[in-house]
Amino acid sequence: AVELSLRPRYLSEYIGQTRIKENMKIYIEAAKLRGEALDHVLLYGPPGLGKTTLANIIANELGVNLRTTSGPAIERPGDLAALLTNLQDGDVLFIDEIHRLHRSVEEVLYPAMEDSALDIMIGKGPSARSVRLDLPPFTLIGATTRAGLLSAPLRDRFGVVSRLELYTVDELSFIVSRGSEILGIDIVGDAADEIALRGRGTPRIANRLLKRVRDYAQVRGDGIITPEIADEALDMLQVDPRGLDQIDHKVLQAMIHNFRGGPVGLDTIAATIGEEGQTIEDVYEPYLLQLGFLQRTPRGRIVTPMAYDYLGIPMPDHLNGKA
Ligand code: ADE
Repeated sequence: AVELSLRPRYLSEYIGQTRIKENMKIYIEAAKLRGEALDHVLLYGPPGLGKTTLANIIANELGVNLRTTSGPAIERPGDLAALLTNLQDGDVLFIDEIHRLHRSVEEVLYPAMEDSALDIMIGKGPSARSVRLDLPPFTLIGATTRAGLLSAPLRDRFGVVSRLELYTVDELSFIVSRGSEILGIDIVGDAADEIALRGRGTPRIANRLLKRVRDYAQVRGDGIITPEIADEALDMLQVDPRGLDQIDHKVLQAMIHNFRGGPVGLDTIAATIGEEGQTIEDVYEPYLLQLGFLQRTPRGRIVTPMAYDYLGIPMPDHLNGKA
């Protein structure tokens, strides 16, 4: 309930992702002018940036129903067929984690996306034949952490493909202020910036930090979030001044101490610290890249001089120009 009410419901309330917003506004208006369903939309990018929120907003702006499901939740082709045949003209079907769709389910999606049709096999053996059912025109919105995880035939069937970017500190600060207003939280001075700085470019994280800081302000203070209260609360949460958590530190420390700062492959880093390579790539790496602490090279990841500086670790000679 609280989590939902923090979510903007219309594009005009949505902060950040400016390019996507401007483009979507045009596509939505055009679809409405023509009285057609919006073309299928693929949203990709790190978790917590608002893919689900955007899907809700798009359905609201179109004035249609939204049906929500996820790749792993659709176990058999029949499950998807049931969802599709229950849609009304122009509705949005949102499939989160669409890269995790079962192959056999994905194949049902192709004719649905391309021709608004459902191909059903009836019978078995030599007398088996396929019957085509017409579906109402609809919009599929797919969300995934990385577009590269989708099969090419599925990816090719989306008319709009948008990558969500990490938010700037200023954008996150606006989001924290907006959230405070909705939740009736007193937040003063630069406290919203303090929280934004540690929000890892991610509204979901910034809003979560806001709630924990509010708890702290109520119990240890007088309920008002000042920059000092925010700092104390955030230190207690073990989020460092730029929002790095223990795993970010483990990644950087392992690269520095075990691999001389790189280049080193993602899976090697993952094995060294006992995390999934995919998790590091989707969740940790994007923020370290945005901060400029990590770089990708053809030979693997490297730690940048900025990261050594931030961590207070002397740079190795090959980065110092002393080599
Ligand atoms: N809350 C979470 N994400 C948001 C966004 N992008 N804009 C406004 N409020 C938000």
